[in-house]
Amino acid sequence: MTTLTFLAEPGGALRGRLRVPGDKSISHRAIMLGALAEGATTITGFLEGEDCLATLKAFRAMGVPIEGPEQGRVVVHGVGLHGLSAPAGPLDMGNSGTSMRLMSGLLAGQAFDTVLTGDASLTRRPMRRVTEPLALMGARIEATEAGCAPLRIHGGQRLAGIDYTLPVASAQVKSCLLLAGLYAEGVTRVIEPAPTRDHTERMLAGFGYPPRREGDRTVSITGGGRLTGAEIDVPADISSAAFFLVGASIAPGSDLVLEHVGVNPTRTGVIDILRLMGADIEVLDPRLAGGEPVADLRVRHAPLRGIHIPEELVPLAIDEYPALFVAAACAEGVTVLTGAQELRVKESDRIQVMADGLMALGIAAGPTSDGIVIQGGTLSGGTVISHGDHRIAMSFAIAALRAGGPISIRDCANVNTSFPGFAPLARDAGLIVVEYVT
Ligand code: S3P
Repeated sequence: MTTLTFLAEPGGALRGRLRVPGDKSISHRAIMLGALAEGATTITGFLEGEDCLATLKAFRAMGVPIEGPEQGRVVVHGVGLHGLSAPAGPLDMGNSGTSMRLMSGLLAGQAFDTVLTGDASLTRRPMRRVTEPLALMGARIEATEAGCAPLRIHGGQRLAGIDYTLPVASAQVKSCLLLAGLYAEGVTRVIEPAPTRDHTERMLAGFGYPPRREGDRTVSITGGGRLTGAEIDVPADISSAAFFLVGASIAPGSDLVLEHVGVNPTRTGVIDILRLMGADIEVLDPRLAGGEPVADLRVRHAPLRGIHIPEELVPLAIDEYPALFVAAACAEGVTVLTGAQELRVKESDRIQVMADGLMALGIAAGPTSDGIVIQGGTLSGGTVISHGDHRIAMSFAIAALRAGGPISIRDCANVNTSFPGFAPLARDAGLIVVEYVT
């Protein structure tokens, strides 16, 4: 088997202006709601990464005509909430937890059966968090004994709305239930333990089907309405921008502007945490694009200090911890993260995998059950393994900006799930990185 390796040379600074690819969460939702809407939906800035392409292909397999993607432009010819047709075989969601969890909700409401599968990582991730509440709504879904995919979703069930308090803060579970709620009789109400990304709520409103918000933790939707096609301008993904926010912060001489980044307040925890550590990040020209706040972000090198990361920021930066751990490794003093046990069930166990990698580079990093303790220090060169986790791979590539020697990162092919073109873009900004296949 071949494997993609990144080799990042030490040193360099990040300078200039760049636009990272489109937001993954918003791209998935644009395809899903576009497919279920009546009329055409035109998406620009769509993320042409493998995860969102898995969503796109799944809807094509269910009879939705979709043009593109071509340079980020996709036209979805929506078939309406009841217009999907049975796919010829299982739907392969690849590495994408968002595809699987959100689609399980809307597929539970169809007249036909479906099977959702995925790669080795996805078929190990917990799915009971969606199958259990969906069962309470009347869905019939079979998972493996461990509660994992493949999921066999039986169509033709009558769904009824429920009031459901999420046991974990998860936008995927919230969104899954809201999508099932489109097909349910009555009201589906979701109560979150802490606010999570609200792209589904915003986009449903943009398609003419606004959910009801009650405070910042409760949202409900009433079944039986319809969605109307919309225009979606997808902002650049703050989760992809995060590697550059950290990279420019840690590398002396850096001064970088990241253009048109989504700065929805349910996603900006990474900016708040980096600022608490002493980072110099300016939010320029804040504006709205298709119902989502966007801005340009200017980041300049600044000395960072270790902090105890406030727990309320955990869900608001949930995908950015691998990059933030690199910031912590370069900070003066200790950084402590608690309340983040969810990181253990992402594309990899991000606490363990990051701790292993940081330790391989000479940093004292102690995993705990729900977080990590990182003592800032001097990164050495070395070899780290990403375990097929895109965000781990990119985080260690950025770490080279402050390392004492080259960092070789194994198993990087999955960077294409969220950030196609990462290495060339990072090179343009000043990171010395090459990719090679062995
Ligand atoms: C996502 C929600 C988060 C996040 C994932 C994308 C979404 O997952 O980690 O990358 O698009 O709703 P959880 O809901 O499991 O926290």
